[in-house]
Amino acid sequence: MEKFVPVVVIKELSEVDKILPALKNAGINCAEITFRTACAAEAIKIACEKYPDMSVGAGTVINAAQCKAALKAGAQFIVSPGLSPAVAKICNKKNIPYYPGCVTPTEIMAALELGITTVKFFPANIYGGLKALKALSAPFPQVKFIPTGGVDRSNIDEFLAFDKVEAIGGSFFVKEALEKMEG
Ligand code: 3PG
Repeated sequence: MEKFVPVVVIKELSEVDKILPALKNAGINCAEITFRTACAAEAIKIACEKYPDMSVGAGTVINAAQCKAALKAGAQFIVSPGLSPAVAKICNKKNIPYYPGCVTPTEIMAALELGITTVKFFPANIYGGLKALKALSAPFPQVKFIPTGGVDRSNIDEFLAFDKVEAIGGSFFVKEALEKMEG
């Protein structure tokens, strides 16, 4: 998967053509478009059609219906704030990567039972940050993490330096990319 996973919130469809080119311009070829807005599925569809060289996925997917809508729109990966076995089942069947939010040993064990070895660690800052990741990696050396939530320029490097960190998620990538674009 891509190393940087920008959390993208599209309120109006026209924003797709503002945010995705800005991300590309910043060297980020990925967008996690979140199901926090009514137009998420449509935004994913447009993003997949217009930016085929980018990895476009769906975020904040909290149930099977949203997962189905995201996949129908062309989402190439699915992210949830927590773990949904229903979403995991659909993604497994369709061979789509699913990154559920897991912050406790019990949640990680549930993910492993579903065949998932890369999980989102969210909100990373609240659940102990890098210290927690290191502690969780002792009993779960096979697990890779995507810390998200409260990650920014001030702490991204320390997360990236840890070999169990597969990728970094965050809304700050979008903010930075837009600022860079606007000069
Ligand atoms: C998410 O859903 O992953 C978070 O809203 C991202 O958190 P951030 O805004 O602190 O990066």
